[in-house]
Amino acid sequence: MAPAISVAGRRVECLENQSILEALLRAGVWMPNSCNQGTCGTCKLQVLSGEIDHRDSPQETLSSQERTQGLALACQARPLRDTEVALRGADETRSTHVLHDLAGTVAKVEEIARDTRRILIDLDEALEFYAGQYIELTVPGTTERRQYSLANIADENTVLELHVRRVPGGLASDKWLFGTVAAGDRVEGLGPLGDFHVPPTEEDAGEPMVLIGGGTGLAPLVGIVRTALARHPSREVVLYHGVRGQSDLYDGGVFAELEATYAGFRFVPVLSDETSPEHRNGFPTDAFLEDIASCRGWSGWLCGPPPMVEAGVKAFKRRRMTPRLIHREKFTPADALARA
Ligand code: FES
Repeated sequence: MAPAISVAGRRVECLENQSILEALLRAGVWMPNSCNQGTCGTCKLQVLSGEIDHRDSPQETLSSQERTQGLALACQARPLRDTEVALRGADETRSTHVLHDLAGTVAKVEEIARDTRRILIDLDEALEFYAGQYIELTVPGTTERRQYSLANIADENTVLELHVRRVPGGLASDKWLFGTVAAGDRVEGLGPLGDFHVPPTEEDAGEPMVLIGGGTGLAPLVGIVRTALARHPSREVVLYHGVRGQSDLYDGGVFAELEATYAGFRFVPVLSDETSPEHRNGFPTDAFLEDIASCRGWSGWLCGPPPMVEAGVKAFKRRRMTPRLIHREKFTPADALARA
């Protein structure tokens, strides 16, 4: 019989080769999670009783001392027998969408910017998710999975939109999504994953928001912005998109339309490697610091390469944003092939 995981009074069977995180999310039990690759430490939990195998948990994320203290990474660890765990300082009753296998057909492959494609996937069955979450797709002919943020709002749950940046030599991005992929291809994966998402409607206070996306880090921010504005049409929302040059920009028309519809929305593209009289130049975090004097009561959203996200956290704190209102999604090394 498969070993079981107990957490907060729930008991969930953990199938062979399933991580604790996957077993709990598939059972609809919320657990903090972000990278699902052992690199961020978000899913760290306390083992209260039982026995686990840490598998590929890296030392940098889970030290020997932490292992001795009974800590584990839920996205890597497997229970060897019935095991009880506890979340650390997190709300065990938080609502979540159940993690599912998914399957669908590539509906459209579109070039939208330099080395950047929009891929639409027509799902066989609708997927429930919060705007900002991501899915994992299996690279055809392999057992490798890659992560892709959803650019959709929650109601758009039958055709998923992904923004993919080509990384030369990348198994997923270069060889597959910039190589062999074509409309009509079948795809498989699972989702939704990640805690980088809008809160449920009843918990959304309508606070002002600032969002900074680097490259295709824009994708989840599109769904988050559209959701936030639809819920509170008069809220202040500022979205910065950091890219190298003008040919990396995309979906300007979408943001122009949002600016025309919502008086409190502003879209600010920022070019780091080119100067242009029509655009801001430099890094998006610097543009934010120039524009906004105080972020007390605001929420902040960062998605992109780790240096940009780290600079963003510092910039938000300099502007007095409450740490608990800072949300971040880093492109971690293993998924960089797909998402960076
Ligand atoms: S280390 Fe487990 S979700 Fe990042």
